[in-house]
Amino acid sequence: MSNDPVVRTVNLVKIYQNGGVPVPAVRGIDLSVEPGSFTAITGPSGSGKSTLVHMLGGLDPRTSGEIWMSGKRVDTLSESAWALLRRERIGLVFQFFNLIGNMTVADNVELPALLAGATPREARERREYLLGELGLADRADDSPTRLAGGEQQRVALARALANRPSLLLADEPTGNLDSRNTRDVLRLLSQVHKDGQTIIMVTHDARVASLADRLVTLLDGQIVDDGSIPAPRRRPLGRAGDVIELHG
Ligand SMILES: Nc1ncnc2c1ncn2[C@@H]1O[C@H](COP(=O)(O)OP(=O)(O)O)[C@@H](O)[C@H]1O
Ligand SMILES: [Mg+2]
Repeated sequence: MSNDPVVRTVNLVKIYQNGGVPVPAVRGIDLSVEPGSFTAITGPSGSGKSTLVHMLGGLDPRTSGEIWMSGKRVDTLSESAWALLRRERIGLVFQFFNLIGNMTVADNVELPALLAGATPREARERREYLLGELGLADRADDSPTRLAGGEQQRVALARALANRPSLLLADEPTGNLDSRNTRDVLRLLSQVHKDGQTIIMVTHDARVASLADRLVTLLDGQIVDDGSIPAPRRRPLGRAGDVIELHG
């Protein structure tokens, strides 16, 4: 693997057109994300967080600027090339879960692994592990349409992790979850981080952000704060009720 940043943006800009009126959503973002890092993106509603991660996942074309992934320029890719890149390297968890209703939960989770070349057995084992970690083992045979919002959200996370993507892009992955399910998601994310996968995650939740090693704050489409989170201040896992100890 190269030492290039997993993601690097250069003066990235997105301007929507709303009935002829330009709406600047992202206004010149330079962001570099190192392999294996866990970056939390925060900021008020409307600050451009979703727009940024959608562009990084190739779901929304940029207006100007550049996006590089692991040394390769990607903002110029075709839609089919983006689809291939996502299949091989990127897991996406977005607010519109895009689960397939006429497939079971199990098949929804196994599909990306199969598309990425896993054997049926590998895909099944990975699915069993992920659904188990997220407390969804007993929903495997259901249609996603029968699940509550928080359950669908966890299935979407399991699906995003099925092919062990080198980059996980998540937009508020705990937005619909109660504290117990949030804890399951946090445990899985920190396992994924420990395994060396790179995570970029939008979140409003301080518990989620405290797992990250870097916090980037957006305001009006620009980065207004970007700081590493010192390891001793990160919250120990699985103790959601505890007070964070501040050192130094
Ligand atoms: N599809 C769209 N068309 C027009 N404007 C949009 C669209 N998506 C987002 N915006 C606008 O872009 C800005 C940033 O939105 P968004 O990226 O969703 O912010 P956040 O995720 O931080 O809440 C907002 O002003 C929003 O209204
Ligand atoms: Mg958003």
